[in-house]
Amino acid sequence: MTTKKRSWAEPYKIKMVEPLRMTTREQRERALAEAGWNTFLLRSEDVYIDLLTDSGTNAMSDRQWAGLMVGDEAYAGSANYYHLEAAVQKYYGYKHLVPTHQGRGAENILSKCLIKPGDYVPGNMYFTTTRAHQELAGATFVDIIIDEAHDPGCEHPFKGNVDLAKLDALVTRVGAAKVPYVSLAATVNMAGGQPISMKNVRAVREYCEPKGIKVILDATRAIENAWFVKQREKGYADKSIAEILHEMCSLTDGATMSGKKDLLVNIGGFLALNDDDVFEEARNLVVLYEGLHTYGGLAGRDMEAMAIGIQEAVSEDHIRARIGQVEYVGEGLMKAGIPIVHPIGGHAIFLDAAAFLPHLPQTAFPAQTLAGELYLESGIRAMERGIVSAGRNKETGDHNYPKLELVRLTFPRRVYTQAHCDVTVESVIELFDRRHAIKGLKMNYEPKYLRFFQARFDRLA
Ligand code: F0G
Repeated sequence: MTTKKRSWAEPYKIKMVEPLRMTTREQRERALAEAGWNTFLLRSEDVYIDLLTDSGTNAMSDRQWAGLMVGDEAYAGSANYYHLEAAVQKYYGYKHLVPTHQGRGAENILSKCLIKPGDYVPGNMYFTTTRAHQELAGATFVDIIIDEAHDPGCEHPFKGNVDLAKLDALVTRVGAAKVPYVSLAATVNMAGGQPISMKNVRAVREYCEPKGIKVILDATRAIENAWFVKQREKGYADKSIAEILHEMCSLTDGATMSGKKDLLVNIGGFLALNDDDVFEEARNLVVLYEGLHTYGGLAGRDMEAMAIGIQEAVSEDHIRARIGQVEYVGEGLMKAGIPIVHPIGGHAIFLDAAAFLPHLPQTAFPAQTLAGELYLESGIRAMERGIVSAGRNKETGDHNYPKLELVRLTFPRRVYTQAHCDVTVESVIELFDRRHAIKGLKMNYEPKYLRFFQARFDRLA
């Protein structure tokens, strides 16, 4: 008997293409020098395969493009706002919606509504903009993720989980009155796109509720998290992605959302809340920072595309293919012995730069170096997620020294083909083969906020 092979393929076909520009090594040397060795400062036309981020880089469907044509560009009461509100209520289950231009707009408003100076905000690791807004509102961020999340080799299936003992230690130390909410991310971007289990979210809820501490979800990639719950958590194999998403949100009091990820759009976000009073405050603030509460900095058409995107994002075929593509690249790299964060995350492969370039000290910015070298090698653009992203300690002024020194290869949704994935794997392998010759960097310009976006570097001699 012969076993027939049946290959997996993308659940869509292509009807419009964007030509890519191929570059030579000399052109890339020049471009990277001009960009101060910071991949954020490269021009996109100098990039071949852009794995900088999955944020706003998604390919919209024909239905979403059609949705743009029914944009109701009214200043107040746009029909598209009501479509989006209905979709958020149906799939996420929250009562109130405040649209924002993107995730950080929602984070700004939420932080201003809930945080008083001197408060503490615990979170399952941090995200750059989320923590920055918490700190700007006067809070101190406290990491309460399980220790396993800081170990790139550990195979824990839910490395995004909260360590309840760490949460309890904080609450005991500062008092529940100084902890307005737990900032819960699903999946955890900085840990490598690692999910949180439903059981853990429920435990956090049960701990917080009697103490009057809110639980706020960063729902940016919660649909991807739902896929992992379905695959890995007992009792969820037969539930739909939509059911799992709804159940997870029901254990929280509200959510900030960057629609630019899960929701398959190029711009958009929202803040969703159950509490009437907090909503009232948020609806006041959105007018100051984003726009009227029925558009929040978005065009009507953008809200329509996001409303349609929610329905497409929870489709099982879509999410299987989306995460399947990331797994395909991860497995290719693992087979070649490339050090990456385990298990493979939802939106990205994270190269372990500390293991890739063990001869570089953290102060020579190994992940920043590796991202630059990958660009020189192949024209592939990746992102540093290490000491540069971690910024400086507010008190001491020294760098924060994160345990993870990573380079993120992030996959836009529905954009690249399997052949692009093969080129990516081959390029990383070639770089790995000559890793010993790679030299580090020194920083020669450092901006005050979110330095990784605009910092500049020189290659060490
Ligand atoms: N939360 C998470 C988990 C994110 O990954 C991001 C953005 C945000 C919030 C902020 O949303 O960009 O719409 O303001 N992450 C992007 C990334 C930038 O590349 O990972 P935003």
